[in-house]
Amino acid sequence: MDNIYDLRIGERQISIPIAIASMAGMTDGAYVRDRAGHIGIGFIGGYAIDEATISAARLLSGQGREEFLPRDPITEIAAQVRLVEAAGVIPGINIRASGVDALVSLAREVGDQAIYEIDAHCRQQAMIDAGCGEFLLTHPEILLSYVQALKISGVLVSVKMRAGVAADDAELARLLWKAGADIIHIDLMDYGVVKLREIRNVCPVFLIANNGVTDFECAKDYFAHGADMVSLARRSDPKTLATISEALAQFNREHGWYNSPKQLCRGGDIRSLAFCCMPVKPCPLLPALEKLKISPQEFVTLKMGSVKDTILEGGNGTCFGSLAYCCKDSTPCMFRDGTLKQAGIKKTIYMQQKRELARKIMQHVFS
Ligand SMILES: Cc1cc2nc3c(=O)[nH]c(=O)nc-3n(C[C@H](O)[C@H](O)[C@H](O)COP(=O)(O)O)c2cc1C
Ligand code: SF4
Ligand code: SF4
Repeated sequence: MDNIYDLRIGERQISIPIAIASMAGMTDGAYVRDRAGHIGIGFIGGYAIDEATISAARLLSGQGREEFLPRDPITEIAAQVRLVEAAGVIPGINIRASGVDALVSLAREVGDQAIYEIDAHCRQQAMIDAGCGEFLLTHPEILLSYVQALKISGVLVSVKMRAGVAADDAELARLLWKAGADIIHIDLMDYGVVKLREIRNVCPVFLIANNGVTDFECAKDYFAHGADMVSLARRSDPKTLATISEALAQFNREHGWYNSPKQLCRGGDIRSLAFCCMPVKPCPLLPALEKLKISPQEFVTLKMGSVKDTILEGGNGTCFGSLAYCCKDSTPCMFRDGTLKQAGIKKTIYMQQKRELARKIMQHVFS
């Protein structure tokens, strides 16, 4: 499989940074298979897997909502996971559980080829009363214990959350990452990219941005503010997915870094430090460094140490004598472009090296 996006979750390579977000009663193995060419992860479910949540699903189904109500949830989920895998897509299982035991037995029975996504998103009262969905966002200690139990079972864990419900979304995200969550899949509701950036700036967890993705521009905006992937539920029709995935592949071919951040002074997230100047003037960099408890001198040492022996080290003709401080490719600059041309370096390679630099900066900040 090509790895054009250089993207992984655990040991798994992700072919396309677009996911299908779960819709109860709709997103099963066949749904994902029919869209397989345009996505990297397919979240099936949500599946209720224990007595309390199955009763809640029955109640909701009786009220006219679509729900999956298989006779034997574990056997059914395992079969659907196999279908997704056979289609070449990484399977994610969106799960409604009211306790840790059912989660752990599901992981034991179905195995580690799937991502286990805890549904901390559902706002249906019956599910909240059963102790899942949004209930978990207001009872973070329970949610954290689910993450830890699944991690101990040796599987990849995602938490599907809805923005604006927890007391502090960014702090919850940070705690989830500390507890071992591999993915935070966030429905941003009306909070949009501001919330996404807030989370990106406090932890390096793999982020899937969700809500209202209907075209490439919208996906691009999420990518430019910290998303590793985007997901679609209501508009996950094959045509929309194909349009976005083709435009993204084209963008990646032209720019080399599919989710490059905006510059810091244009509202970029922490990764944009890779494009920042030498800290020599009053601008948003100084307060950003202060917040991260990095002194200006440390920043210089970090940048120069990170680009040592790479193509970004040189750059005598640029503002600060090194491409380490140079701007994003979309900012026109004849000095940077002249330097790259003289050295025979393509702009896509320049951006890939900036991505590496951003990774090293993140590693330093969050280690
Ligand atoms: C009919 C329907 C069923 C849904 N069921 C689930 C679910 O079971 N679990 C879950 O985490 N989210 C569920 N969602 C939420 C979606 O995954 C997604 O977060 C939301 O629709 C916003 O994304 P979108 O704008 O791409 O649709 C459901 C959404 C819809 C419309
Ligand atoms: S250092 Fe340069 S790129 Fe960064 S915020 Fe300041 S002016 Fe913008
Ligand atoms: S040389 Fe150009 S790209 Fe580099 S820092 Fe100066 S303005 Fe930005």
